[in-house]
Amino acid sequence: MARILVACEYSGVVRRAFRARGHDTWSCDLLPAEDGAEQHYQCDVSSILNNGWDLMIAHPPCTHLAVSGARWFKGKQIEQAAALEFVRRLLDAPVERIALENPISIISSRIRKPDQVIQPWQFGHGETKATCLWLKNLPKLTPTNIVEGREARVHKMPPSPDRWKERSRTYEGIAAAMAEQWS
Ligand SMILES: C[S@@+](CC[C@H](N)C(=O)[O-])C[C@H]1O[C@@H](n2cnc3c(N)ncnc32)[C@H](O)[C@@H]1O
Repeated sequence: MARILVACEYSGVVRRAFRARGHDTWSCDLLPAEDGAEQHYQCDVSSILNNGWDLMIAHPPCTHLAVSGARWFKGKQIEQAAALEFVRRLLDAPVERIALENPISIISSRIRKPDQVIQPWQFGHGETKATCLWLKNLPKLTPTNIVEGREARVHKMPPSPDRWKERSRTYEGIAAAMAEQWS
C-alpha cells in the first residue's frame, strides 16, 4: 500500500480513485474537502511535502500561468513569479514519483516542456481540454476509452461564483486512469 498525496485538490476525485484501489491517499487544499472526507489536509501543501509520500499528484492553480489567460499577464509579474515558484517547489519535492497537471501554460517555456498532453475524450468524456502532465518516474498515461464527442464544455459554462471550481475539477475518467496505471 502506497502513501499518496493529491496536492491542491478540494474535490476528492483523484483521492477517491486511489483509495478505491486500497492506497493510503490524502488530498490537500487551502479549501475544505468538498466531500467532507477525513483524509484531507486543509493547509498550504508546502508544509507537508516532506511527510514521506511515495507518490504525489499535483494540480497547482493555473490562474497566472495558463496561456488562455495571457491577456491578463501584464501587471501580474509578481503573482506569476510566485505561481512558477510554487510549481518548482512541487516538482522538486522529495517524493519518488510525481505527476503535475496544468493546462497549456507558461510552465512549458519557463520551467520545462510537459511530458504528455492528454484530452478528456481519451478517457471517456466527450470533451476537449488540453491537459499537460509533467512526470517524474511515472509512465505516460495510456488512453482508456476514446470517445467521439469533442465539445469544449468548460468554455460554455455561464458565469457564477463557482465556475472556476467546475472548470478545474479533475475528470473522473482521468483520475481512474491515473489510479489504475500509476498504482
Ligand atoms: C486548479 S484548482 C485544482 C482543483 C482540482 N483539480 C480538484 O479537482 O479539486 C487549484 C487548487 O489549488 C488550491 N491551492 C492553491 N494554493 C495552494 C496551496 N499553497 N496549498 C494547497 N492548495 C492550494 C486552490 O485552493 C485550488 O482548489
